Amino acid sequence: MKKTLLIFLLSLLYSCDSKLENLIPDNHEKWPLFTHDKLDYFIPGHENNYRISYINEIGAKYKPQKKDNDQFLYNYPEGTIILKEIYPSNTYQPGDIPEYYTVMIKKPGHPHAQGDWVWLVKNHESKEETIFHSDMCVNCHEGANTQHPYGDKNLGKDFRDYTFFTFDGQ
Ligand code: HEC
Repeated sequence: MKKTLLIFLLSLLYSCDSKLENLIPDNHEKWPLFTHDKLDYFIPGHENNYRISYINEIGAKYKPQKKDNDQFLYNYPEGTIILKEIYPSNTYQPGDIPEYYTVMIKKPGHPHAQGDWVWLVKNHESKEETIFHSDMCVNCHEGANTQHPYGDKNLGKDFRDYTFFTFDGQ
């Protein structure tokens, strides 16, 4: 009896971090695209699966500050969500169904925030959300805060607030 209770409590504890989070709204297909670049090339961490990134309205309205040395300093407001759909292959046709999403949510006070972002993966079909407790995501995304080999390469060495692209505004 006691053992069953313990297993129940442990599973409840585990589920707090995955199934029951519900931090990501269901309407992201209506959000603006974060970048119009075609993301079908290999990158470590996301492989060469076809990818489409979106940003929610809170993040889309935000404009970065320009520092004295002409570099931009990004600091997205709390509540910003950037969601990247990951498709099963490296091609995409309208109507294709993504497998899962990788997601960044600006939530500085959250116990698992790293760099002020919560890093998650959401399964498209089951809708299960899993928060990353390891520093796997943030360690690579830290590279976006200066010049890097991916996307637009951040040649201006702006502080990007951990995003490899910036919102291209349409
Ligand atoms: C080894 C590097 C690497 C790792 C690890 C990684 N990413 Fe990324 N991520 C990238 C790159 C590069 C991009 C740029 C867009 C593209 O080419 O897909 C990106 C893009 C994104 C975006 C769109 C915003 C942006 O930066 O353009 C989100 C959201 C995202 N990743 C979430 C995650 C999450 C969540 C994890 C951990 C589960 C993760 N990433 C792990 C390299 C990485």
